[in-house]
Amino acid sequence: MTDGYAVRAEALEKRYGEKRALDGFDLAVREGTVHGLLGPNGAGKTTAVRILSTLIRLDGGRATVAGLDVARQSREVRARIGLTGQYAAVDEVLTGRQNLEMFGRLFHLGGRRAKVRAVELLEQFDLTDAADKGVGKYSGGMRRRLDLAASMILAPAVLFLDEPTTGLDPRSRGEVWDSVRALVADGTTVLLTTQYLEEADKLASHITVIDQGRAIADDTPDGLKNLVGGDRIEVVVAERTDIPRAAKVIARVSDGEPETEEGELRVHAPVIDRVSALTEVARTLQDEGVQVEDIGLRRPSLDDVFLRLTGHRTEKHDKNDTNEKYEKHDKNEKHDKGARA
Ligand SMILES: Nc1ncnc2c1ncn2[C@@H]1O[C@H](COP(=O)(O)OP(=O)(O)OP(=O)(O)O)[C@@H](O)[C@H]1O
Ligand SMILES: [Mg+2]
Repeated sequence: MTDGYAVRAEALEKRYGEKRALDGFDLAVREGTVHGLLGPNGAGKTTAVRILSTLIRLDGGRATVAGLDVARQSREVRARIGLTGQYAAVDEVLTGRQNLEMFGRLFHLGGRRAKVRAVELLEQFDLTDAADKGVGKYSGGMRRRLDLAASMILAPAVLFLDEPTTGLDPRSRGEVWDSVRALVADGTTVLLTTQYLEEADKLASHITVIDQGRAIADDTPDGLKNLVGGDRIEVVVAERTDIPRAAKVIARVSDGEPETEEGELRVHAPVIDRVSALTEVARTLQDEGVQVEDIGLRRPSLDDVFLRLTGHRTEKHDKNDTNEKYEKHDKNEKHDKGARA
């Protein structure tokens, strides 16, 4: 009945006055997978999740969740889904356990079953030790895990996670990822919106990129990276004034214009003959006396994909976040490379 798809959306439309929040949006999410929905601010991610989780009505098109029509069978759909919103829904004053019991009763579990389910979920989301602490005292990661637990009260077939780790530190983010992986291993299908490309890369087997209410790409993370092209050579110079010289050297071996981001000392460009490009650039820069901090080859990242497809960097790159995230990202890329070689 589901054709192997937990979620299908065809030509979804949603208007707010003049604004077309969704403008012919298509989506197909395979059962038992994590599917990433990526897009810049205002792209329509939350709108799509709200329609699919029956919180708002669609204006056009058609969608099914777990094989059920979201418009005509919204009650049945609701019984099969969980939703964690962009903003946490748990009550600060109550303890973790009390929150889960309360959600259990909201879902008509009855007092005893609600209690039992709360214990199971506290265990599953590694919150047993904190079960009887007020949620006000929880860390950000613990709160998100509690939020996830609350959305899993009925062990839904499909779970919608709208930016589940925004604002979390890397460690808490990792803990939430582990929980999501565990859910999928148990058979839940997850539709995940995120602004963190690393998150989509790590968790999702398939990604849909949405911009201005439409899906503009749909592929595996690797497939998306291949869209952008092959490997890139990347040089980090020690002095800002050396950027033009480095770009010139790179241009001789590259298969496209060298690029550099404002405020960065990094110059990069696509290359075809990777190893000879690398050795030639390294040698020439040394001959020319350009001081190099780092040089290497890397696969395009999802950031590159995102930039190419939407013309934006990811937006939660506010000043405080950007550097740390990029450094981490770059390290991971290099690490991956090493592991593959
Ligand atoms: N209730 C509403 N009333 C009017 N306009 C809305 C409403 N909800 C969303 N919009 C508009 O629809 C568009 C899509 O919004 P949506 O919240 O789905 O984007 P998003 O991709 O989730 O963005 P973000 O990354 O900021 O969460 C935006 O232009 C937004 O301003
Ligand atoms: Mg949103």
